[in-house]
Amino acid sequence: MLPRHVGIIMDGNGRWAKKRGLPRSAGHTAGAANFRTITKYCSTIGIPYLTVYAFSTENWKRPAEEVGALMRLFRQYLEEALRDFQEENIRVLFLGDRSAFAPELRELINRTEEASADKTGMVLNIAMNYGGRDEIIRACRLLIEEVQQGRLHAEDIDEACFSNHLYTAGQPDPDLIIRPSGENRISNFLLWQSAYAEYVIMDILWPDFKKKDLDRALEIFAKRSRRFGGV
Ligand code: IPE
Ligand code: IPE
Ligand code: MG
Repeated sequence: MLPRHVGIIMDGNGRWAKKRGLPRSAGHTAGAANFRTITKYCSTIGIPYLTVYAFSTENWKRPAEEVGALMRLFRQYLEEALRDFQEENIRVLFLGDRSAFAPELRELINRTEEASADKTGMVLNIAMNYGGRDEIIRACRLLIEEVQQGRLHAEDIDEACFSNHLYTAGQPDPDLIIRPSGENRISNFLLWQSAYAEYVIMDILWPDFKKKDLDRALEIFAKRSRRFGGV
């Protein structure tokens, strides 16, 4: 069975570039091109929700030069990729704190969401300046505000209510999370939502991750036995 929601931690761009004697930014360019290919493929095969991790709240720690190259790439790729996604009927949403981005990038993010709001195909979440912990704290603040304003009673806060205050409000939790590059960790990705996600770690760097690798991850997922705590 196909997962309803797939998450991808697009990791390994830097190592891909290093192996070729190229600057890390070249790895990010190759990774961005691959993002476009794999996203279109997911839409073609009928995945309903795809979340890609593009930039974490911790990635600001990188050298200014690398962060600058990533920001330029986001601007360029969003413009280009978004045109294709329009044709593919893909709805694009951004997860994360966009207030940290430069005004032009923020504007592009907002414009993209608005332009694709009526699309009925795959939902593509791009996690940018996203952190699972940051998202949970933000949800707490929103809930506290509603309680203080008398619009919500504390005793009515349950898991569904909490989920609806996350960036992914209204969406199903991820069934499958793929991490290329071989790292065995979550790195602050969809902490709340991934409670019962199946993890597939693949020893392949993101720019080298091909459609056949996605197929392989889907096959591995299909063979997993999900019990959700039951028997
Ligand atoms: C993922 O690739 C891209 C971002 C985090 C923005 P990395 O840049 O983390 O690549 P490695 O892990 O250093 O190879
Ligand atoms: C996770 O990768 C973030 C993205 C892929 C955007 P990192 O490369 O930042 O994660 P760590 O540092 O290896 O945990
Ligand atoms: Mg990395």
